[in-house]
Amino acid sequence: MTIDKKRPLRSAEWFGSNDKNGFMYRSWMKNQGIPDHEFQGKPMIGICNTWSELTPCNAHFRKIAEHVKAGILEAGGFPVEFPVFSSGESNLRPTAMLTRNLASIDVEESIRGNPMDAVVLLVGCDKTTPALLMGAASCDIPAIVVTGGPMLNGKHNGKDIGSGTAVWQLSEAVKAGQISMHEFMSAEAGMSRSAGTCNTMGTASTMACMAEALGTSLPHNAAIPAVDARRYVLAHMSGMRIVEMVWEDLRLSKILTRAAFENAIRVNAAIGGSTNAVIHLKAIAGRIGVNLELEDWTNIGRGTPTIVDLQPSGRFLMEEFYYAGGLPGVLRRLGDGNLLPHKDALTVNGKSIWENTLSAPVYNDEVIRTLDNPLIADGGICILRGNLAPRGAVLKPSAASPELMQHRGRAVVFEDFDHYKTRINDPDLDVDASSVLVMKNCGPKGYPGMAEVGNMGLPPKLLAQGIKDMVRISDARMSGTAYGTVVLHVAPEAAAGGPLGIVQDGDWIELDCHAGRLHLDISDVEMAQRQTARAAAVDTNAPTMKGGYQQLYIDRVLQADEGCDFDFLVGCRGSAVPKHSH
Ligand code: FES
Ligand code: MG
Repeated sequence: MTIDKKRPLRSAEWFGSNDKNGFMYRSWMKNQGIPDHEFQGKPMIGICNTWSELTPCNAHFRKIAEHVKAGILEAGGFPVEFPVFSSGESNLRPTAMLTRNLASIDVEESIRGNPMDAVVLLVGCDKTTPALLMGAASCDIPAIVVTGGPMLNGKHNGKDIGSGTAVWQLSEAVKAGQISMHEFMSAEAGMSRSAGTCNTMGTASTMACMAEALGTSLPHNAAIPAVDARRYVLAHMSGMRIVEMVWEDLRLSKILTRAAFENAIRVNAAIGGSTNAVIHLKAIAGRIGVNLELEDWTNIGRGTPTIVDLQPSGRFLMEEFYYAGGLPGVLRRLGDGNLLPHKDALTVNGKSIWENTLSAPVYNDEVIRTLDNPLIADGGICILRGNLAPRGAVLKPSAASPELMQHRGRAVVFEDFDHYKTRINDPDLDVDASSVLVMKNCGPKGYPGMAEVGNMGLPPKLLAQGIKDMVRISDARMSGTAYGTVVLHVAPEAAAGGPLGIVQDGDWIELDCHAGRLHLDISDVEMAQRQTARAAAVDTNAPTMKGGYQQLYIDRVLQADEGCDFDFLVGCRGSAVPKHSH
């Protein structure tokens, strides 16, 4: 790597002249007590902060930012912290996914419009990681990801409980009459007992692992607990490193290559990662000009053993994952088994992913299992196609019941999530364990925002019989902390005219994960007739709100197979801004 401390800095386009413009750019900044020499050739490093008290997973980020700043200062840089929209999974209605693209626009425009030579991306909660990578990728300046880290293990009744996963389990147990409401409520305080993100291998942990597997963070960024002192050391080291990356001109496009995405897809299979990664990786790749197809998940991911034994697929939580060796341990195991597709992929520390991990230790074979003793032999994400999902659907085999992965059953149809909620508790609902629960109008345009409602809770009367899983199909997403034989991301969605919209109660549906097939067992003629009738019918799913950001979202969002980005946001627009502001 060539280090050229004389290469022109982007920030000099603001601060490098002594004319009227230079005066204006510097003068207002000086109101913060910044001495003149700070503007003389020091790399200006943005710290893009998703801190918010409404995003509890990211609420500790101001402290992390201070450690990043210390590293930047030590390396001779000039840190400037700035806020961007924070998409918080737990509070934001109708779903945080609705605002992922909004946040990405905020990130992109903040970076491009401001004097920054590089940026540190402070991410944590699910959507914040893809949003910041998407925005930064569209600008293509040097960037490094610093994740906030997972929460400590939840504790309840003397046992460890995992974020999200415990909620699904406990709420089903309450409905089945197995635990009291008092026990349910007391788990609430014990589940989230420290700063940090969900401690299961949910979407936040998955995307943290994806950022590390892509090479956009320092090793171990994904798993160090939020409150572990080593998290602050990593923040400090990332601050030091980003300054060097400026001199090396190590921009995101040199890291986020097709090879990096192939590594990430393989790693997602090995960790039992969230289905949401399919959407987010596609969106990030689109911003940097890398083409990913749904079938890449079949070709690269399927067949990879899932070796990380974490909830919701397995037993442990992120704390144990870090103590067992974290993502470097997984990469080592994959590399030793010739399962890391691109060992030479470059990472932000200037070394290849394999150089970073070839001697990484694994301390606990139960948490990070060996390749010949995996949690799931054939992990990854199953991509389904057929007349019910012409543009694809996904299912996570490690979270599914093996006996249901080839299944034929009769549809019980819910027109939308509200219809599901009013109908599912009906004791007279015509449903049994072999039925297939179908929910429409929960996709990107339909919900809108493609909420995480795909893992529909089972009918209470079947739960009471001890039924634990059924085939469920929708155009929704599912929380990465959830589990079940759940077909998600059906595309096109019902609200975009997809065939999901014409399924009726009693229709036979065939799911075959091994063949990658999702089939509605009606004739093509019947299919066409129903489509025509639907086109003529009044749209009962029209959005309740017109205008505003939600309108932009519905009008411009791409389908799940395309990453749910806005059509006009796909692509890298670079960081040049030739025009001055005054
Ligand atoms: Fe924020 Fe899970 S809700 S990481
Ligand atoms: Mg989540």
